[in-house]
Amino acid sequence: MKKLVIEGKRSLKGEVHISGAKNSVVALIPASILTRGKCVIKNVPDISDVRTLISMMKELGSKITFDKEILTIDNSEVKPKRINEEYASKIRASYYFMGSLLGRYHHAEMSFPGGCVIGSRPIDFHINSFKKMGAHIEEKLDGFVMDVDVFKGIDIFFDFPSVGATINVMIASVLAKGTTRIVNAAREPEIENVADFLNSMGAHIKGAGGGTITIEGVEELGDGEVEVIPDRIEAGTYLIIGSLLGTDFKVTGVVEEHLISLISKLKDAGVPVKVTGKTIRVSRPKHLKPVNIKTTVYPGFPTDLGQPMSTFLTQCEGMSLFEETIYENRLRHIPHLNNMGADIKAFDKSAIINGKTDLVGRKVKATDLRAGASMLVAGMIADGTTIIYNIEHLLRGYERIVSKLNNVGANIELIDE
Ligand code: EPU
Repeated sequence: MKKLVIEGKRSLKGEVHISGAKNSVVALIPASILTRGKCVIKNVPDISDVRTLISMMKELGSKITFDKEILTIDNSEVKPKRINEEYASKIRASYYFMGSLLGRYHHAEMSFPGGCVIGSRPIDFHINSFKKMGAHIEEKLDGFVMDVDVFKGIDIFFDFPSVGATINVMIASVLAKGTTRIVNAAREPEIENVADFLNSMGAHIKGAGGGTITIEGVEELGDGEVEVIPDRIEAGTYLIIGSLLGTDFKVTGVVEEHLISLISKLKDAGVPVKVTGKTIRVSRPKHLKPVNIKTTVYPGFPTDLGQPMSTFLTQCEGMSLFEETIYENRLRHIPHLNNMGADIKAFDKSAIINGKTDLVGRKVKATDLRAGASMLVAGMIADGTTIIYNIEHLLRGYERIVSKLNNVGANIELIDE
């Protein structure tokens, strides 16, 4: 069991460099299975989700190496073996193996995908799309068994622009017969990153990043190469921290366009934000004004930044309204924030946050990955010592978070008990 011990109220100065995006790389690795050629993925973050995926790939027969942020992959010997619970339960993105194994081998078997407990998180859009494309899918007590004779390109419409379903159908369509159109596709930047990788192998994907994506099936793929885009959620988390504790605090290696919703809200709250190329500079103003936050799909305010942002709102002078619209259970961190001194009334998926409240160090729990980020921000602004348990959740998504923050003046210790 790992825990973080944080001595709060340290002001931060210096720069934090942003790593490759977790939610891109967890799709890029399974997507590589579509080709027998060699793949190179650059700017890969060393996070536990990546380590888990590397082990999964090795189980399937992949020759995969990870050195200095570069993954080199040779999947010529991969076999469509069952993905067991041991792996599938650890990582939600294991559902991308369905699309890639079905696409290349016409057969996939896996246990049910796990991940953070932030809502019911069904995968019916993925399953129904594969079925419409011609797959036979048996749902057993311990997972799925999927087969397809010929994957047929068709029109797929999503009731909701799901990130996972958009990427999975895109992966599955690359080697399908004919043209697939995904309508009401998700537009998150990670989708374009995956499409760029598949196109580098020889896929014909157009429109990724927009609401309609067209994939013309091809017979075979070759070598592929891609650079993982900067992690906009990691960047956003550090910008929130810098806005609360920074004196001259910079986040480097970011794509500003991916962060406009957050930057706009920080400015509304009175945070001085200066963007120069790939660098964003923030610092703590004397007073923070309340702002309302409603999480939604890209380019709206990201659900993955909702929890750390809710900690920020406790420091704004007045009442802020907070609404989560993507998941049912993304407010499980609120009791922990209140325990530290916040004044938050939570109702179902929304909350009223009254500020400013002085937070005090307590023993708290990371109930999921982004709840861990919320607790980290809280611990860093609190008086005294905060201990965050279950920190494994946080380490799944943030590369070298302790050293990155200590390098700019924080006092955080990771203890492995
Ligand atoms: N949904 C369905 N049916 C489906 C798929 C989704 O009803 O088949 C619903 C979900 O229940 C949810 C909504 O659609 O209410 C959004 O789900 P989506 O499929 O977009 O999410 P996801 O692909 O499972 C990814 C990220 C999440 C991030 C969301 C939204 C990965 C591995 N995960 O999840 O990241 O919150 O998109 O942006 O890419 C995180 O990093 O902390 C995280 C949870």
